[in-house]
Amino acid sequence: MNSINPQAEELNNIIHNGHPTIESQLSKRGKAIFFPKKGLLSQAAAAKGKSINATVGIALADDGNPMRLPAIAQRIDLDPKKIFPYASSYGIPQLREAWARQIFKKNPSLKAEISLPVVTNGLTHGLSMTAYLFMDQGDSVILPDVYWGNYRLVMRQNYGVQFKTYQLFKDNGYNVDGLQEQLEATPGKQIILLNFPNNPTGYSLTISEADQITNHILKSAEQGNKITVIMDDAYFGLVYENGVQTESMFAKLADLHENILAIKVDGATKEDYAWGFRVGFLTYASKGASKEVLKALEDKTGGAIRSNISSSCHLSQSLILEALNSDDYENDKAEKAAIMESRYNKVKEILAELGEKYKSVFTALPFNSGYFMCLKLHEDLDAETIRKTLLEKKDIGVIATDGLIRVAFSSVPVTRLKEIFEAVYEVA
Ligand SMILES: Cc1ncc(COP(=O)(O)O)c(C=O)c1O
Repeated sequence: MNSINPQAEELNNIIHNGHPTIESQLSKRGKAIFFPKKGLLSQAAAAKGKSINATVGIALADDGNPMRLPAIAQRIDLDPKKIFPYASSYGIPQLREAWARQIFKKNPSLKAEISLPVVTNGLTHGLSMTAYLFMDQGDSVILPDVYWGNYRLVMRQNYGVQFKTYQLFKDNGYNVDGLQEQLEATPGKQIILLNFPNNPTGYSLTISEADQITNHILKSAEQGNKITVIMDDAYFGLVYENGVQTESMFAKLADLHENILAIKVDGATKEDYAWGFRVGFLTYASKGASKEVLKALEDKTGGAIRSNISSSCHLSQSLILEALNSDDYENDKAEKAAIMESRYNKVKEILAELGEKYKSVFTALPFNSGYFMCLKLHEDLDAETIRKTLLEKKDIGVIATDGLIRVAFSSVPVTRLKEIFEAVYEVA
């Protein structure tokens, strides 16, 4: 790699002096990246508000507003300035602040200093930028053996890491010991990926499991391992059972130990039912990390984004910001969450009623949250064949992976859920 740019060095020094562990957790790319404050962007920023501003790479109308096509503008009921110009690589500042407030509100036990969330182009991009900043070729990422398949492309394919998996479930609960065993087998640099509610199983930790995992991670940190914990909170907030952890693991890890860097990857995608908007966030916390250190991480993230997609969609960010500031937001969300919960309850009811009959064909993996649940097929059955037959003979689409059928109850009306389970049974 080329020698380090002085602007990157400046950030590395801030991190090194304030929190040396975090510096050691950065990847080579992460160490080398910086947000270019001294070039074109700073010249454009300096010209802001001048009577003639001929710096910006956009077109302005004669009245100073963004030049725009009526065919687009007339369809969007927002100030053109909130739509057409570029947003900052870090995201709209007010949105970042509003999302930070949301994080604290949704995680009441979180008291730690956290970075301002940096806007990413959805969670996938947030995960990708996390890999950019913290993963080198050959690094190991510890995660359960049932996970969102796109992690393979994002992390393994693009950044050359290897996955160290542990069996997800043990005795119908989370295999907390499996995680601990992988930690013990991976001394030094440890990268843990946690995803609750889990895709594909729809499982979230019980309160006791969350405490046990926290203790294992703390113990590992106390032994001197440097741990980066990435929390993929895509489906945050949709928990349907008592005794299940409703807060993010981020709240537990944010201020736990100097050797733990907590990275929260979340966004409006699933939480706010805005999948195609591509609004996600990356937020950092670590015990002992000062505002300056956290800001340096924001700057590195801003630089990674600038070098990657330049910035995320301004319109989407503005719409999410409007929603967060709206008086209706909480009620609107509660209404949708209630629909999701009713579908979850219906699936539980179907399984309670007919689970005995289905047993020879499939059993449900534990689930208590999120969008999905999984059927574990009898070992003689092939998930892919069943998926295809469901499409051809029953007009029903599901996802098939490694002996599992994933049912997205999130997208099926209550009245039609039973058809899915009956169809899998019949087809099998
Ligand atoms: C666990 C998990 N993480 C991340 C994502 C990606 O979210 P986004 O669409 O915001 O990139 C998904 C989407 O399916 C997911 O299931």
